Amino acid sequence: MLTKLYIKTYGCQMNEYDSDKMADVLHACVGMVQTDKPEEADIMLFNTCSIREKAEEKVFSDLGRARALKQANPNLLIGVGGCVASQEGEAIVKRAPYVDVVFGPQTLHRLPQLIAARRASGRPQVDISFPEIEKFDHVPVSQTSHGTAFVSIMEGCSKYCTFCVVPYTRGEEVSRPFADVMREVESLAAQGVGEITLLGQNVNAYQGETEDGDTVDFAFLVQAVAALPGVQRLRYTTSHPREMSQRLIDLYATTPKLAAHLHLPVQSGSDRVLMAMKRGYTALEYKSIVRKLRAARPGISISSDFIVGFPGETEADFEATMRLIDEVGFDASFSFIFSPRPGTPAAEMADDTSEETKQARLSRLKARLQELDQQISETMWGSVQRVLVENISRKNAQELAGRTENNRVVNFAGSPGMLGRYVDVRILPGSAHTLRGELVMQP
Ligand code: SAM
Ligand code: F3S
Repeated sequence: MLTKLYIKTYGCQMNEYDSDKMADVLHACVGMVQTDKPEEADIMLFNTCSIREKAEEKVFSDLGRARALKQANPNLLIGVGGCVASQEGEAIVKRAPYVDVVFGPQTLHRLPQLIAARRASGRPQVDISFPEIEKFDHVPVSQTSHGTAFVSIMEGCSKYCTFCVVPYTRGEEVSRPFADVMREVESLAAQGVGEITLLGQNVNAYQGETEDGDTVDFAFLVQAVAALPGVQRLRYTTSHPREMSQRLIDLYATTPKLAAHLHLPVQSGSDRVLMAMKRGYTALEYKSIVRKLRAARPGISISSDFIVGFPGETEADFEATMRLIDEVGFDASFSFIFSPRPGTPAAEMADDTSEETKQARLSRLKARLQELDQQISETMWGSVQRVLVENISRKNAQELAGRTENNRVVNFAGSPGMLGRYVDVRILPGSAHTLRGELVMQP
């Protein structure tokens, strides 16, 4: 009988990617198949996130439910991976003794061995080490469908923003060798994958070693990937404003395959707060990067992440963020209330802003972002957009869902034969963030 694997993923795209790798590794080594029904599972994995307190609490309440399933099926094996695992380690097994394996983002490739060791020894196994680049060497090549794939190019982060746990849970920046990245992209392109997203916590800090021992930067990698004939559209996430080199910006003028959309987290519009966050740029410097990007690629859409209620954020600081939002005209963005994370410097900073004030600021900021998002959608009404057809529409099985260059989903009537291909659709007036369109032609 086939062993069934259920994976629950929390948090960011890095975790989505890692969950796919867990499934790949367990499929390749022990022939496990994935199920979306927890009650059918022989193995349940929780790929956790500790970026904010809420995400972390959710894991422990879900683990409680898994325990009930294990009582009904004592052979069920429960694993906890990701950033909570990385931070808590053995403490997870102490708090939840029914957990069988604990592994970090850098040890997911050792899952088959950890599971075997658990079965052989009858004891929970914990491995949350950071074995440098080993993970990249041990994960099987991705199999994808529908024309788009993520390719991990680096792991971890060495920026140590004062609010963030990532450098502690995922370790410092480690880049994947240049030739390995190229080989993976070439193999994806050969399978018909035309859209590639280069993935990492801080992709533009990439410093990849070449086979002759040189080091190449992110702009070099982007250029090399874009030069591959099978690659039609190229994205990357996430990048840091401090690493937006002029060479990288210039590529927006010379490389049409680079999508006209960039997620560039700014966090705040107040220089005082940016300094306390240790972001390494001012609001003016951020705006100057945006101006250069727009000079290189007119119409490029910029999305961002914002934190409100950072310790000591005053009304004036918050207004500076609101001004920056208007000045830049951000596209669909994410915003969060500051969540103190144990072990980070910001968790120790004095914070006298009330929860109510923070909630009110978040609502105002979200409302403004929403308005801008809608305005950008409206500018697209009537235009023809080239979209990659990624899926059957979630709401209507007769329709397809495609993704525009500026990362919006468009639903339109079409045939499943178009999946994984680029088609042109005209955007219908009246639609919001998820657009509606009609097929114009298949290029
Ligand atoms: N380079 C990373 C990225 O964007 O993928 C940034 C790390 S984090 C996964 C994504 C976002 O979460 C950050 O840009 C920040 O806005 C938010 N974030 C990180 N730590 C936070 C905290 N302690 N409280 C609230 N939001 C936080
Ligand atoms: Fe976190 Fe700052 Fe790195 S937000 S992931 S420490 S760039």
